[in-house]
Amino acid sequence: MAERVTLVEMGPRDGLQNEPAPVTTADKIRLVDALSGCGFTRIEVTSFVSPKWVPQMADAAEVMAGIARADGVEYSALTPNLRGLEAAMQAGVDAVAVFGSASEGFSQANINCSVEESLSRFAPVVANAVEAGIKVRGYVSCVTDCPYDGPVQPKAVARVAAALSRMGCHEISLGDTIGKGKPETVSAMLDAVMGAVPTERLAGHFHDTDGRALENIAVCLERGVRVFDSAIGGLGGCPYAPGAKGNVATEAVAAMLAERGYDTGLVPDKLRDAATVARSLRSTG
Ligand code: HMG
Ligand code: MG
Repeated sequence: MAERVTLVEMGPRDGLQNEPAPVTTADKIRLVDALSGCGFTRIEVTSFVSPKWVPQMADAAEVMAGIARADGVEYSALTPNLRGLEAAMQAGVDAVAVFGSASEGFSQANINCSVEESLSRFAPVVANAVEAGIKVRGYVSCVTDCPYDGPVQPKAVARVAAALSRMGCHEISLGDTIGKGKPETVSAMLDAVMGAVPTERLAGHFHDTDGRALENIAVCLERGVRVFDSAIGGLGGCPYAPGAKGNVATEAVAAMLAERGYDTGLVPDKLRDAATVARSLRSTG
């Protein structure tokens, strides 16, 4: 039987968060519903963050309330603090994620605190979620390069990944936030992180700014990583990472994995339909 690789769908959250023109709640729900029929087991729906920081995610609770949940799909959201966690739980999310950074510059720009402060802030969020039976994913951003601080040391990534893992995050998603990673820098980063967190608890999260996301995913695959984040239609970017383009397109990753003989459980025709919906929501076409 073909080996399974899980794609965690980022389109509705990472994909839409940076859209300059408002996307209606109904359109967000339409996108999530289209994705629910594609065979994903995990969809990141939205973020319970400050609407001052990310206006596009201000309707998080309405989106969660409006989607038609499919059996076997985990619907998750970002929660930067306890307030976000409470709102996410009230909205009935299945899982949440905290998001830290390996670099100080991005931590300050994205969540307005130092890396150390962010870890102290996440600890009660993770503890409360775990106590309520909600799984928590931990993101580490800027795993090879930071838009503010430049190249990032692999040991800085390993340190934050280990801290999030110790806190109780069941999985650590390694984010190439600005899509500047290269096979060599990704590989060096993995050397350090894999010494701190077991490979089966790692995920790869690649943006495709320089067109190297698929190559970088291949590096992770060779090293045993079996969970990857991607966004339908290549939607995306981060408002606090200047120059960051979209996440790697789900259709492209699914096709590459099928070619290599992996099973993703995704249905290509349904992905095409969802990609059409995704593209229709983009103000840049
Ligand atoms: P702050 O300004 O330091 O905190 O923001 P604050 O506590 O002073 O709050 C500011 C205002 O937001 C206050 O409102 C709070 O009440 C409100 P005011 O009193 O001024 O009217 N507030 C909230 N509202 C709703 N939900 C909440 C919440 N918390 C506070 N949960 C904070 C700190 C973390 C809140 C802010 O910086 C923030 O929300 N940042 C989020 C940024 C973000 O979402 N970035 C994109 C996601 S990360 C990403 O894309 C990377 C990733 O994809 C991986 C990769 O690619 O590397 C995951
Ligand atoms: Mg991202």
